[in-house]
Amino acid sequence: MLHYCIIGHPVAHSLSPQIHNAAFKALKISADFVKEDVLPEDLESFMRGFRNKYAGASVTIPHKEAVMKFLDEIDPQARKIGAVNTVLNKNSRLIGYNTDCYGAMQTLRSVIASLSKAKAKQSSQFLANKRVCILGAGGAARAVLYGCLQAGARVTILNRTVEKAQKLAEEFNVDFGALTDFRCEDFDVIINTTSCGMHPHDGESPVCHFERPAVARPQVSEDGEPRNLVVMDIIYAPLKTKLIKDAKKAGCKIITGDRMLLYQACKAFEIWTGEKAPKEAMEFALNKALALFA
Ligand code: ATR
Repeated sequence: MLHYCIIGHPVAHSLSPQIHNAAFKALKISADFVKEDVLPEDLESFMRGFRNKYAGASVTIPHKEAVMKFLDEIDPQARKIGAVNTVLNKNSRLIGYNTDCYGAMQTLRSVIASLSKAKAKQSSQFLANKRVCILGAGGAARAVLYGCLQAGARVTILNRTVEKAQKLAEEFNVDFGALTDFRCEDFDVIINTTSCGMHPHDGESPVCHFERPAVARPQVSEDGEPRNLVVMDIIYAPLKTKLIKDAKKAGCKIITGDRMLLYQACKAFEIWTGEKAPKEAMEFALNKALALFA
């Protein structure tokens, strides 16, 4: 039997075990998936023992960047992003991948396409001319930033610690600022990658001023495209974060964190097993787990 885990701190809220165990069961793969709560100061010793115990892992807050130095090889895209959220133990060689980028972009692409009249927006440049605000400057932000730039977006990074936003912005040549600089009318797409608002801090939002409703914005741009304000949160516990609730009240198109979770998990599963992910079984398990949360 093969063993897989999610490495993070905290990980109690993680739904990855439910999703991946359902996938293993659906494909009759003899494997299990557990949570490993690892403090930052324990990551090195944990990774030393990892090789002989686990066939692969998901990596979450706060280890997505730190884990890289304990791996033997980093996939070129994960190297460019500068963060790893999936580890494959291939014949005792630990290889790091990033499936967050794929998960976030699959999610955004489908929503943007559903809002767009133009076929061109379904292309790889589906964020061309879109002003995207990324809240946060950690590992998840790096993956989302990389994907947005590949898709042609104009990106601004806002973070609680401005120095971190500046460092990331300079690396990728984009704008930056503090969370307090946020004005929703400056953007077409807002993506929260911070952990602010995550259970048990359900009442918190990374941005406090969502007072200018999206309905007050011009509804159609010069090229005839609808100008919906899209707000995406990568937090899925709770599913309706304060940011998502505020955005919905303001008339924005919202995307909850379960979508990215599902897509990144499908990609990770395919990396570990070489099999096509059983998306329906994974989605069913995710929805069941989310219903228990609510
Ligand atoms: P991950 O790898 O999942 O992105 P991370 O690297 O620990 O996790 O990054 C967490 C992000 O959430 C950071 O941008 C962090 O802001 P700081 O750089 O200022 O620490 C942000 N964050 C965490 N808690 C927050 C809070 N209460 N309010 C605003 N931002 C927060």
